[in-house]
Amino acid sequence: MTELDVEATPSPLVELDQERYARFRTSFEAVTNLGHRLLAARLAAADVLPAPGAAAGRDELLARLAVSPGYQRLGEALLDMLERADLLRRHGDRLAVTERVSGAAGLAGDAAVDAAATALRREHPEAAGYVPLLVACQTQLIEVVRGERPANDVLFPGGSADLVAAIYRDNVQLDFHNRLCADRVREHVLGFLRRYPRSYAQVLEVGAGTGATTGPVLDALAERAERLRYFYTDVGPAFLRLGRQGFGATRPHVDFARYNVEGAPGEQGIEPGSMDVVLASNVLHATLRISGALRHCHALLKPGGVLVVNEMTSRLDYNTLTFGLAEGWWRHAEDEPRVESSPLLDVPGWRAALRAAGFVDVRAYGVPGLADGEQVQTVFTATAPGGTGPAR
Ligand SMILES: C[S@@+](CC[C@H](N)C(=O)[O-])C[C@H]1O[C@@H](n2cnc3c(N)ncnc32)[C@H](O)[C@@H]1O
Repeated sequence: MTELDVEATPSPLVELDQERYARFRTSFEAVTNLGHRLLAARLAAADVLPAPGAAAGRDELLARLAVSPGYQRLGEALLDMLERADLLRRHGDRLAVTERVSGAAGLAGDAAVDAAATALRREHPEAAGYVPLLVACQTQLIEVVRGERPANDVLFPGGSADLVAAIYRDNVQLDFHNRLCADRVREHVLGFLRRYPRSYAQVLEVGAGTGATTGPVLDALAERAERLRYFYTDVGPAFLRLGRQGFGATRPHVDFARYNVEGAPGEQGIEPGSMDVVLASNVLHATLRISGALRHCHALLKPGGVLVVNEMTSRLDYNTLTFGLAEGWWRHAEDEPRVESSPLLDVPGWRAALRAAGFVDVRAYGVPGLADGEQVQTVFTATAPGGTGPAR
């Protein structure tokens, strides 16, 4: 049964401009294509790939790439990607370099890369924000995977989040899913306040980061701010400082606290069983064990409370080529069921994980008209059992 039921939320918050979204998908594909070509050009220039037409064993290619221990999974994922992109072609147990690599070879120099990036941004403004991070990551890939340059120097040069933030700016896909989160949180908060007219609703956000999801959620809750306590949490103190700057001054109902979702709330000064809604946007995939993180989210909730999860549910080569440079992308435990060559779960995987963690009434929301397997990003809601029925 496909349970993606975005149509069941007829709120202006979750309207999607389908034409613009289709343009975005086409543009994003063009960005990914540039990523494949940059990767091939870099590996060819560093003599990791032999000349077009020549072949090598997989282990030999990995040895030439010479990844440091934390990047073994990335090395494997890059070879798989080159094969899917027809830059490498399997012949028996060897991989032959295809002619497509000759076409990419012109992208070895900085000037050629700049020209290709500029042309792509001009032709595909819908996904232009993705280009600078991709170029930065691919032009420094070899140094990072060999442990010669810290990934953070590439992803956050000089400590700045600008390259990553550019992705979020005016992004039709991310905006839509953030609004979907906001709509789900709002529905449950309003339901709670209707049922308990003399109480405060308590919402805790896990891994709030720079607040990309927090903003739309707080805006959607603004009319009930006087009846709300919102806990902006993250494992990183720097993000709490950013959160305070962004939301602290104008919103007295927002509190800031350090919380690591890999640990139990009670051990970190947060009352177990005290939240009406827990929100986790683009954070749970980064944990060692999603099963443990979900148990801790469950522990935060009152009986009948709702967890809202926003997660990438398809492996995208773009993410492997960029966020895959962060060692944290690959840190999940060996025995954790994740989508191959990624830290992600797909839609059925999230449903199963949420149910296994004891949640009931698990629902998934995504782009209308797309099947589960085509959803790049999905919002899930799941209820901690024991309440007195859905607070609608
Ligand atoms: C990709 S960012 C997402 C930020 C924000 N939620 C959004 O959707 O834009 C991931 C965030 O999760 C935080 N994070 C990573 N591991 C965490 C953990 N174990 N507990 C809490 N937060 C964590 C990171 O510090 C970072 O701010």
